[in-house]
Amino acid sequence: MPAVVVIGGQWGDEGKGRVVDFHSRYCSVIARYSAGNNAGHTVINERGKFALHLVPAGIFAADKTCVIGNGVVIDPEKLLTEIGMLSERGVSTAKLLISQHAHMIMPWHRIIDKADEAMRGALAIGTTGTGTGPAFHDKVGRLGIRVADLMDAESFAYKLKHTLEYKNRVLAGMYGLDPLNYEDILEEYTEYAEKLRPFVADTMSFVQEADARGEMILLEGAQGSLLDLDSGTYPYVTSSVPASVAAGGAIGIGLGPTAIERVVGVYKAYQTRVGNGCMPTEILDGPDMEMLREGVGGAAGTAEYGTTTGRARRVGWFDGVLARYTARLNGVTSVALTRLDSLSAFDSIKICVAYEVDDKRVATLPATTRDAERARPIYEELPGWKKDVTGVRALGDLPTEARQYIRRIEQIVGAPVDMISVGPERHQAIVTRDIFGASI
Ligand code: GDP
Ligand code: IMO
Ligand code: MG
Repeated sequence: MPAVVVIGGQWGDEGKGRVVDFHSRYCSVIARYSAGNNAGHTVINERGKFALHLVPAGIFAADKTCVIGNGVVIDPEKLLTEIGMLSERGVSTAKLLISQHAHMIMPWHRIIDKADEAMRGALAIGTTGTGTGPAFHDKVGRLGIRVADLMDAESFAYKLKHTLEYKNRVLAGMYGLDPLNYEDILEEYTEYAEKLRPFVADTMSFVQEADARGEMILLEGAQGSLLDLDSGTYPYVTSSVPASVAAGGAIGIGLGPTAIERVVGVYKAYQTRVGNGCMPTEILDGPDMEMLREGVGGAAGTAEYGTTTGRARRVGWFDGVLARYTARLNGVTSVALTRLDSLSAFDSIKICVAYEVDDKRVATLPATTRDAERARPIYEELPGWKKDVTGVRALGDLPTEARQYIRRIEQIVGAPVDMISVGPERHQAIVTRDIFGASI
């Protein structure tokens, strides 16, 4: 069986963790292939509610292997905390593998992330402050320290010493900050090394062999395509290399692109964003904004606040222009539409189908921030359904207006919707097509 990639089609937080948790039962290997603990993936299943930042959302099935691939940057402390939290709550991490090729987040990355944001002033990105961006900068700048280095005490001591000399000059000269102490970091990371050693593996070979045996591999994207370095709303994007878009899935796990046969695009039934940057359909205030942010009319306890930072998410209507763009960009073969329940209280619901820029109708987002911020959404308005849908499990049982809304999204995006999520819990889903060749 081939590899399937699950990607976010918007600005992140579309519900990828929830979709991966649902589909992981049909797969042998579930792998993260990019980003770091800037990601926050919520899973609610029979084990409880979990916020995962590095461990793949397939971890709840004890017979599956979960892989943190070469494309991920790992903060060892955060990963060990997450493994500890899972173990304490009775979730086995015995089959978790960590790539020896993955880069690590070092103490200076977290410090630089925050200091750099402050220095940027009006150009601040609104990062998660996790050090993820600076860790990718060092990867590209060939100053990164990888898990394999950590596993070799001599190599780690040498790399740490010389990298820290460089970084302390940056901290002092560029940001006016105190230097970090070599011995302290050496001691701290040596402890992490021993705790992580049992998980470290040649995951590229492992995944390649699983693929050769015909096993199903599920690649769990992080972030959303509009946060992608190349294709997103630059510069208000994240720094992952490889990208979180589907094409990055192959590189970030060590497979060829032909291994990827399907791409599931996860889209919220409306739009959210955390951090800075343009958002043409954003609703800045008023009752619609309140209703979307607090999830009025939908499943309880799912208001729009960030899983990683707790920041209030910006909210707005579904942006069909950007959704069609990201579906094409990723080669989306089917859509998982999440949080349909969160629209249940509206009399009518808007979908953006084009923009107006300088009195002209355009079908793509302008490239510069200044022009993108001037793009005014042109909306179609559809009737709301005004009924609780959290208990619906079959498409035919959804109100007609809800089905109309889904059909319109399929037309705009150009791909079929085969999973509709009507609540955050694993079972709160309507599945209309079996994409894994297994009976549902
Ligand atoms: P991810 O980063 O793409 O995995 O998404 P997050 O977990 O950061 O954010 C998605 C949020 O929506 C979480 O709070 C989920 O529990 C919640 N969620 C997911 N699917 C649904 C749904 O269908 N309905 C509702 N109300 N909440 C959902
Ligand atoms: P998941 O996987 C939403 C955003 C940050 C900021 C920008 C750059 O949960 O969907 P960074 O710390 O990466 O340098 O911040 O990217 N961002 C996310 N927004 N969900 C995420 O991940 C995100 N990861 C990064 O808010 O705007
Ligand atoms: Mg998230």
